[in-house]
Amino acid sequence: MTDNPTPAPLADELETLFARKKALADARWPLPPRPRIFTISNQKGGVGKTTTAVNIAAALSQQGARVLVVDLDPQGNASTALGVNHQSHIPGTYEVLIGTHSIAQVVQKSSDNALLSCVPATINLAGAEIELVGLEHREFRLRQALVDFLGSADGTDYHYVFIDCPPSLGLLTLNAFVGASEVLIPIQCEYYALEGLSQLLGTIDMIRDNLNPRLVVSTILLTMFDQRTNLAQQVAEDVQQHFPDTVLKTLVPRSVRVSEAPSFGQTVVAYDPSSSGAIAYAEAALEIAQRGGPV
Ligand SMILES: Nc1ncnc2c1ncn2[C@@H]1O[C@H](COP(=O)(O)OP(=O)(O)OP(=O)(O)O)[C@@H](O)[C@H]1O
Ligand SMILES: [Mg+2]
Repeated sequence: MTDNPTPAPLADELETLFARKKALADARWPLPPRPRIFTISNQKGGVGKTTTAVNIAAALSQQGARVLVVDLDPQGNASTALGVNHQSHIPGTYEVLIGTHSIAQVVQKSSDNALLSCVPATINLAGAEIELVGLEHREFRLRQALVDFLGSADGTDYHYVFIDCPPSLGLLTLNAFVGASEVLIPIQCEYYALEGLSQLLGTIDMIRDNLNPRLVVSTILLTMFDQRTNLAQQVAEDVQQHFPDTVLKTLVPRSVRVSEAPSFGQTVVAYDPSSSGAIAYAEAALEIAQRGGPV
């Protein structure tokens, strides 16, 4: 790792952030003609899945899209970041998967804005991996619940769904792969980043062959990028070379404001919209909106 000895002067940085914010405000944010359902997946832990799910969702909803985040991780980090109640007695994803509740019965408004909602995850979800094994159509339960919801009067005007997965390739993540049509893989710019990627892509191929033929890896986002290190730049270049059409141009920088936001029950997009992390997530969201979904 080599530190860059000449960081940009503060005034220049501020001016650049200001210009980027203006470009975001002036941009056209097209809405998809039918809901785009993403699963945010990477079996590697702590790579920015939850941060990406809630912030892309928040940025799109701020621009007029109606967005649902499904928290499919028993840790409930997405629920926390969106300021929704996910104490153990609150019904959420667990009840939806087991089949006692519909999404319409458990969905909550986020603290960010009225267009952003969340299906919360409680600690009960930790038992679901095992309980689902004995249930019929165990891989299709989230998919069926989403189809029912998006086709009902409550869910008819949603534009995006983001499913936040746990760091594993178990039945919960499988439900996400079957329920989604697009996979967004966040990759942390560090040495081991690419090691688990071939396993992940292999699993996705298997799911496409057996359970969900329309599933595509539409988006890769490089997260926690530290431009001062050669290593991060090397990893970013490697990923860009391997996946030129899939990786977003936007790199999300490592930023303290991003990691602070969840402790206020907020996304960074709401907590500090002028911070470099919030602007990068908004730029990534704009790229996703402008690329459109798979045909
Ligand atoms: N751009 C960033 N800058 C600084 N910190 C970040 C950034 N992105 C994420 N973090 C922090 O890194 C940690 C891991 O991020 P996050 O929870 O989004 O990862 P994850 O892949 O969802 O983790 P898990 O696998 O446990 O679900 C969190 O503490 C988060 O606040
Ligand atoms: Mg997470």
